[in-house]
Amino acid sequence: MDIAQITREEFTLFQRLIYKLAGISMSDAKQTLLAGRLQKRLRHHNFHTYTQYYRMIAGGQDPQEIQIMVDLLTTNETYFFREPKHFDFLVSDVLPQRNPANTFRIWSAASSTGEEAYTMAMLLTDKLGKSAWEIFGSDISTQVLAKAARGHYPLDRNEGIPPNYLKKYCPRGVRAQEGTFLIAPEVRERVRFNQVNLTLPIAREVGLFDVIFLRNVMIYFDMETKQKVVSHLLPHLRPGGYFIIGHSETLNGVTTPLSSVRPTIYRKP
Ligand SMILES: C[S@@+](CC[C@H](N)C(=O)[O-])C[C@H]1O[C@@H](n2cnc3c(N)ncnc32)[C@H](O)[C@@H]1O
Repeated sequence: MDIAQITREEFTLFQRLIYKLAGISMSDAKQTLLAGRLQKRLRHHNFHTYTQYYRMIAGGQDPQEIQIMVDLLTTNETYFFREPKHFDFLVSDVLPQRNPANTFRIWSAASSTGEEAYTMAMLLTDKLGKSAWEIFGSDISTQVLAKAARGHYPLDRNEGIPPNYLKKYCPRGVRAQEGTFLIAPEVRERVRFNQVNLTLPIAREVGLFDVIFLRNVMIYFDMETKQKVVSHLLPHLRPGGYFIIGHSETLNGVTTPLSSVRPTIYRKP
């Protein structure tokens, strides 16, 4: 069935919806991108206008379809050892100060397919070994979380992983798994993934962290959403804990009690 081109009015409806659901601000320039990403869902349901799909979603009767739409409209680009200065800082400055009496905990908030969380887990396996530490990865997209939990990646995703870590922590698949690698069980078992929508209040049970990584997601948020998300996260950071954002992001205009340690790295008093 032919699908009618998305109209500006239809695009505006989806812009408002994804803002309401995920805090994501889609600029007007994203109209073609949005239409392309949702097209297969229209086909799936035999709809020929975006209005039909919008009505189905906005009706709220099908939570699964809402999740599929959120999965399709989020941008999940990530890779191992992305922005490596943050990991250098973790090893050189954060780990030596940790209190060995506590379980050392890091949160990869907006973890996408898990590369950021596993990067830290490889580092901690190497540097802290069997002592008490854990990593929590979360995202709004259940599709990326399922991939993250598997810890199974195509071989060409391994760029950036130091050769000794590749050897120790990224065993290559054989036979049917040829061309892939799996994060080693000793690393994987320290990482847990769960869905967290950062624009909603966060459950207390998530607990306290020594470091929170919030990288490359605030670029999709306006000031109001940034403020909300940061305010939700900071109660989960221990006093003296570190808050780390992406290199192209800023907390300018966001009110926080944090002090700046160096660009993109902050500390809670
Ligand atoms: C570009 S990825 C960043 C991945 C990783 N932190 C990095 O820097 O490589 C952004 C992620 O933020 C997630 N995201 C977007 N809005 C969110 C929200 N409201 N709550 C939680 N995660 C969200 C997306 O699903 C996506 O996986």
